Amino acid sequence: MSDHSGVLSDVRRGMIPAHIYNDRELFDLERERIFGQVWVFVGHESEIARPGDYVVRRVLQDSFIVARDEQGQIRAHFNMCLHRGMQVCRAEMGNASHFRCPYHGWSYRNDGRLIGLPFHQDAYGGEEGFPRKRQRLLPAPRLDSYNGMIFISLNPDAPPLLDYLGDFTFYLDYYTRQSPSGIQLSGPQRWRVKANWKIGAENFAGDMYHTPHTHTSIVEIGLFREPTGAKRKDGATYWAGNGGGTTYKLPPGDLDERLRYVGYPAEMIERMKKSWSAEQLRVIGDDGFMISAASLFPNLSFVHNWPRVADSEDVLPFISVRQWQPISENETEVLSWFAVDAEAPEDFKRLSYKAYLMCFGSTGMFEQDDVENWVSLTNTAGGSMARRLLLNSRMGLLTDDREVSPRLTPEQFAGPGVARTGYNEFNQRALLSRWADHLEAAR
Ligand code: FES
Ligand SMILES: [Fe+2]
Repeated sequence: MSDHSGVLSDVRRGMIPAHIYNDRELFDLERERIFGQVWVFVGHESEIARPGDYVVRRVLQDSFIVARDEQGQIRAHFNMCLHRGMQVCRAEMGNASHFRCPYHGWSYRNDGRLIGLPFHQDAYGGEEGFPRKRQRLLPAPRLDSYNGMIFISLNPDAPPLLDYLGDFTFYLDYYTRQSPSGIQLSGPQRWRVKANWKIGAENFAGDMYHTPHTHTSIVEIGLFREPTGAKRKDGATYWAGNGGGTTYKLPPGDLDERLRYVGYPAEMIERMKKSWSAEQLRVIGDDGFMISAASLFPNLSFVHNWPRVADSEDVLPFISVRQWQPISENETEVLSWFAVDAEAPEDFKRLSYKAYLMCFGSTGMFEQDDVENWVSLTNTAGGSMARRLLLNSRMGLLTDDREVSPRLTPEQFAGPGVARTGYNEFNQRALLSRWADHLEAAR
């Protein structure tokens, strides 16, 4: 194994060795030291709302059945049969009280317990020869949830989920708790792109600089009025706990006016007022910032935008949750969910879904613009010249590391963490610094 200390120190000073976006050896380290250690999102409770509902999700190549058992408890079991290792559940989602292995027919309850073996008596001597009790599918070492977002960790000693999320929960609430009922997720759409997983995570964490350029055509056709250069510069970026994101600056107004500006109807605004803290409301109502894209380390992202959905000036907001699921050092499976407040009016849900489909997902215009860049970057990063190139990711820093623009004060931005306006790449650097810390820590 090579010594990567030079790579890690370059990353920490914002000069990124280009090959980290297409490097087999680093990918093997990421598998073990990041994805084998941290909390990884595997689904939302609304996807498995009824007893027996399940989804099959992966942490890299480890497949898990995430199910709600007959008692209503959420569980995640490694999707590998105790007998000869066949994948027990081959469907992607569904409802089942039992899972029967396709190979020799061992069957398991949806709480993971082994319940049936063909020819149990003849082949194993029955209960005496092979007692079924205490035989169960291997559970994920850790499972916990926040606002219905289910995470697992392959590390039995991982810190509690809440500690891992840290102050990022403050921002997570905007996406996942607009009312006491929380969000419901639909999808995911899944597709593969020939791009490294870190690029999407970095982009959603803080790349407000690309929107005026990469997404020019979206502004030109009048779909989304915000991503102009000036509007992006005035938005704040924040980093808190293990995640960070971007915001847009809203026009003058009070809380109601500002939430109406992005397209929320009065009844949803009333529920937001009851669901969010005074500080969470202040960021919007007083400070005038509205969340846009965000990433939680390592590979979960969110987006909240408000495009025009009809031939009028009216806009309507949508939320998408997305995961950058690594396949290899140069391929990523994108999972893209539509998320909406469970208590939102049906009309709103329908139009919000339309807004999502226009912007993100496999039909989304933003998505197509972005991916073209990411595939090209990844491809080029795999060559030999990329090993000699350090990418400049120092936006917002002067040569002596002083910051180009000052941090926002608590009077200017009521949220936790560090926030700034102006073009910068602090969040991309924060995300990649965590990446470097993990690659280094578990030696
Ligand atoms: S591998 Fe599952 S029953 Fe044999
Ligand atoms: Fe983009």
